[in-house]
Amino acid sequence: MADVYRLGFVGAGNLAESIARGVANSGVLPPSTIRTAHRRPERCAVFESFGVRILETNQQVVDDSDIVILSVKPQVVKEVLLELRPFFSEEKVLVSIAAGIKLHDLQEWSGHRRIIRVMPNTPSAVGEAASVMCLGQMATKLDEERVSCLFKAIGKIWTADEKYFDAITGLSGSGPAYIYIAIEALADGGVAAGLPRELALGLASQTVLGAAAMVNQTGKHPGQLKDAVTSPAGTTIAGIQELEKGAFRSTLMSAVLAATKRCQELSQSKPL
Ligand SMILES: NC(=O)c1ccc[n+]([C@@H]2O[C@H](COP(=O)([O-])OP(=O)(O)OC[C@H]3O[C@@H](n4cnc5c(N)ncnc54)[C@H](OP(=O)(O)O)[C@@H]3O)[C@@H](O)[C@H]2O)c1
Repeated sequence: MADVYRLGFVGAGNLAESIARGVANSGVLPPSTIRTAHRRPERCAVFESFGVRILETNQQVVDDSDIVILSVKPQVVKEVLLELRPFFSEEKVLVSIAAGIKLHDLQEWSGHRRIIRVMPNTPSAVGEAASVMCLGQMATKLDEERVSCLFKAIGKIWTADEKYFDAITGLSGSGPAYIYIAIEALADGGVAAGLPRELALGLASQTVLGAAAMVNQTGKHPGQLKDAVTSPAGTTIAGIQELEKGAFRSTLMSAVLAATKRCQELSQSKPL
């Protein structure tokens, strides 16, 4: 029998909409089991258009949900949780997707310990998120399974220790921007070699999508896939030699490390 429970969103913004749509469209939960509230009627109308129940207040959303996804901006998390603190009874699960807000702070502000923190990334908007979750002290195996199912509706999800979250931000959080630049640069290369711009951009983005699908679907190591398309004295090895001259690998590694370091600095200096 399907696992049916009530899912609430506090903060009916962009990511909440992506998750709610993904969950409803993939049949993880019927839309009638999803609820939210918003001060702006146009946001309510968007959620209502695909069957989500609209309630009056955040408090009612918490009261009427088994799993509450906190999807407000990080700056307002503290204020919202302090307000909702009396309504988190033991059987409820609080899921926070707010970037950079640690389990420790979530627990302190909500007075609740059945918490899961999730770090998704922006491709959630097209159902291709790379999300990672870490579990608070009282989160159960069932809570983990349910949250995993919810986030699989918008991509893939892994469980990891919270100590990795800065590095996760540096890799999958910031990673889409690195790849946008790579796609733009590949297209520029195509234009430099004489291709029309539109064709070059289409080929570049589909090539990145195809290469990622090859890694994901074959399960082969990327080095093995690279070797398989690199014939002796051929065209691809000539291109790879240029990438190596430009320290392509080292530059990507440094980008992840720099973003991780910046994330650590920001979480230490953030006035919350
Ligand atoms: N977008 C992503 O891919 C992504 C990736 C990783 C993490 N995140 C995290 O996800 C969270 C949401 O991001 P988002 O991009 O969806 O932002 P967003 O579109 O701005 O959504 C936040 C929503 O919360 C509403 N809100 C503000 N104060 C509220 C309150 N007191 N009670 C209830 N709702 C309130 C906002 O309404 P108004 O617009 O009227 O202020 C807005 O609709 C953030 O914490 C972000 O760090 C997002």
